[in-house]
Amino acid sequence: MTKVIDLRSDTVTQPTEEMRDAMRNAVVGDDYFRDDPTVIELETMAATILGKEAALFVASGTMGNLVSIMAGMQRGESLIVEADAHVYRSEAGHLGSVCGVVPKRVKGAAGIMTAEDVEAAIYGEGVLLPTTSMICIENTHNAGGGTCYTVEDMAQMRAVADRHGLRIHVDGARIFNAAIALGVEAKALAADADSLTFCLSKGLACPFGAVVVGEKAFIAKCRKMRQMVGGGMRQAGIMAAAGVYALKNMVDRLVDDHKNARLLAEGLHALGLEVDLEAVQSNIVFANASRTRLGSSGLAEAIRAKGLLVNMPGANGRIRFVTHWEISTEDIKRALAIVADALSAS
Ligand SMILES: Cc1ncc(COP(=O)(O)O)c(C=O)c1O
Repeated sequence: MTKVIDLRSDTVTQPTEEMRDAMRNAVVGDDYFRDDPTVIELETMAATILGKEAALFVASGTMGNLVSIMAGMQRGESLIVEADAHVYRSEAGHLGSVCGVVPKRVKGAAGIMTAEDVEAAIYGEGVLLPTTSMICIENTHNAGGGTCYTVEDMAQMRAVADRHGLRIHVDGARIFNAAIALGVEAKALAADADSLTFCLSKGLACPFGAVVVGEKAFIAKCRKMRQMVGGGMRQAGIMAAAGVYALKNMVDRLVDDHKNARLLAEGLHALGLEVDLEAVQSNIVFANASRTRLGSSGLAEAIRAKGLLVNMPGANGRIRFVTHWEISTEDIKRALAIVADALSAS
């Protein structure tokens, strides 16, 4: 049977055989009592890699962002976010419903906000206004096409935050993609942040989980918030073992996903789709087929029928393709042939 090429997301991956072995053999205990050595190993490792004092294993990127915002802000305060940030658009509205904070959106160029625009979005003094207390930065930026904030961008954000007494939280669901794309250590991208969440279940291919890093006292607060939202865990070392394995073995290989994304982007562009090649910096490619005879939805359906799965386009007509460890360069070549075939048959 021909392999289905699944480019819907980097979350679709199966755990590797070695990862399954690590999970099977994990030494576990009750994490409520801080008795699980594998959870502690993961948290210690994550804190070290990101250059922070402490870390907390959580169920998902969404939960990591949620507890970081709850622990870092007061209800009624304002959070600056990029207009298309995942935390704003795709986390079921927890900013309002659970955190009780007021998002202030700033439009970025392919998801990348400037420090000037962020500074201009800070509410001033005044009894009528909410108090701005946090900037949230998504690195890489998903809806922006996997674009990266650089170490210099982060330093500029830090300068703004320091001038106004704000915290910085990084939604670093794909922070290792950013680090690999920029050729820097992940801790350099975290240095100017107060807190950061990264996902294990995206490019790192784990079946579960995310980790929040920050100062000790902050992480203790996050632990309480995690409990409050029902995220306390027991023998979670089974899942943490996959994370330990991934941090050791799945980070450096992200460079392959980025090469494949570039090959795909250039191929789709050559086939006449609209692709912002400059925005293709990591493992995500957006292509717009609105101007083709099939249109974006038509193309997505036509290629699906031929075994190439993609994220269905939204109202803006952009089809999202995401590369990951189960996708080889040969798969990308086949994917391009499938797209070419669908376009020429229309
Ligand atoms: C940038 C970004 N942040 C956060 C999340 C949420 O992660 P999870 O699906 O683990 O809740 C995602 C998921 O796609 C994401 O892309």
